[in-house]
Amino acid sequence: MKQKILITGGAGFIGSHLADELLSQGYEVRALDNLSEQVHGKDCVRPDYLHEDVELMIGDVRNPEDVARALEGVDAVFHFAAMVGVGQSMYEIKEYTDVNNIGTAVLLEALIKNPVKKLVVASSMSIYGEGMYKNPAGEMTVVNERGLEQLKAADWELYDAQGQQLQPIATPETKTPCLSSVYALSKYDQERLCLMVGRAYNIPTVAMRFFNVYGTRQALSNPYTGVLAIFASRLLNNNSPMIFEDGHQQRDFVHVRDVALACRLAMEKEEANGEVFNVGSGNNYTIREIGERLATVMDKTHLLPEITGKYRVGDIRHCYADITKAKEKLGFYPQVEFNSGLEELANWLEGQIAYDRVNEASAELAARGLTV
Ligand code: NAD
Ligand code: UD1
Repeated sequence: MKQKILITGGAGFIGSHLADELLSQGYEVRALDNLSEQVHGKDCVRPDYLHEDVELMIGDVRNPEDVARALEGVDAVFHFAAMVGVGQSMYEIKEYTDVNNIGTAVLLEALIKNPVKKLVVASSMSIYGEGMYKNPAGEMTVVNERGLEQLKAADWELYDAQGQQLQPIATPETKTPCLSSVYALSKYDQERLCLMVGRAYNIPTVAMRFFNVYGTRQALSNPYTGVLAIFASRLLNNNSPMIFEDGHQQRDFVHVRDVALACRLAMEKEEANGEVFNVGSGNNYTIREIGERLATVMDKTHLLPEITGKYRVGDIRHCYADITKAKEKLGFYPQVEFNSGLEELANWLEGQIAYDRVNEASAELAARGLTV
C-alpha cells in the first residue's frame, strides 16, 4: 500500500513543491492548511499550482480536532505551517507565537496519541543570526551583532574585540543560535519542541534549517518576500533593484525543488533521525551580484542596482550554509543550477501581477524606524 504523508502548510510555497516531489516518488499526499489570507489572498481558495492529487484539508494547525482528523491514516508528517515574516513578527508577536509555537505544541500532543514513523520540521537559518566567521589567524569566531553607531557610519563588516576585521565562512549546524527576532525564536522553539518530544515518544524526528529559498509560487502579495522576488518585480517594472548596505553582504540561495528533495531524503533516511540539517545550495553570492545576475537573465542590464547605503534593522551581514552534513548523511546534492533557477523565476513572475511594492514597503519600514 502507498504511504500517506501529511504536510501542514502544504498549500504554501515550499509545501506545494514538496507535495510534487512526494507524488512523483509514489507517495500519497494530504495537506492541512488554513489558506491564510496573507499568503492565499482574500478568497482563500485552493491555489491553482497545488497538484490535483493532493488531498487538501482546510483547517488550522492550532485546532486539535482539525489536526486529529488530518493525522488519520498518516505514515509521516512534515510540519511546515507557520507565519513566515521576520519583520512582521516584531509587531504581530501574539499571532506569531500562537501559530508557530502553540500550533507545534498542538500537533505534538496529537502525535503522542497517533504516532507516525517520521516527523520532519521546517526550521530556518534565521536561528543563527550572524553566520560563522574566522579571524586573521584562521580561528573560528562567534560574533556579536553590529552596533548602531557603526552602522550609521556605514561600516558594515564585523570585527573581533581587538578590532581585526573578520572573514565570513560557511556556517555549520554546530554554530550556537543567536535569536534576534520573534520569528527566529519561534523557529528554534519549533525545532527543539519537535526533537525533544519526538525523542521522548520514539517518533523519529528531523529538523531542516532552510536558507534563502527561492523559486516559483512564492507569495508576492506578502510584503516580507525574499530579496530575489523583490528584485525581479522591480526589474519587471523597469525599476533598478534597491540594495541595503553596500551590496557585499552574502547569502545562500537554494532552489525550492532542491529543498523538497532534501526533505524527502530526510524522511526516507534513518541516519537522519534526531538530527538537524542545513539546507542550502552550498554556494554564496553577494546581494549586488544577485541584482546583476538577475538583470542579465532578464535582459535588463541597463537597470543597474541602486546602492542605498541604508541599514535594515535586524539584518545580518553574512550567512551561508555549510551543507557537508546533509551531503554525508542524506546524500543531498543540490540539482538546480543558479542561472536556470533565476530564469525560471523571472519567467514565472512575468505571468504574475508583479506589482512593485518596494517603495511602499521601504516607507513602511522607515515609518517604524526600521531603516537607518
Ligand atoms: P508559505 O507562507 O508559502 O507557506 C506556509 C503555509 O502555512 C501557507 O500555505 C499558510 O496558509 C499555512 N498556514 C499558516 N498558518 C497556518 C495555520 N495556523 N494552520 C494551518 N496552516 C497555516 O511559507 P513557506 O515559504 O512555504 O514556508 C514553509 C516553512 O518553511 C515555514 O515553516 C517557514 O518558517 C520555513 N522556512 C521558509 C523559508 C523561505 O525562505 N521561504 C526559509 C526558512 C524557513
Ligand atoms: C530572511 C530571514 C530568513 C528567511 C529569509 C527568506 C533572518 C536573518 N533571515 O533572510 O530566515 O529564510 O528572510 O524569507 O531573519 N535586501 C536588499 N534589498 C531589498 C531586499 C533585501 O538589499 O529590496 C537585502 C537585505 O538587506 C539582506 C539580503 O538582501 O541583506 C537578503 O534579504 P532577504 O531576502 O530579506 O533575506 P534574509 O534577511 O537573508
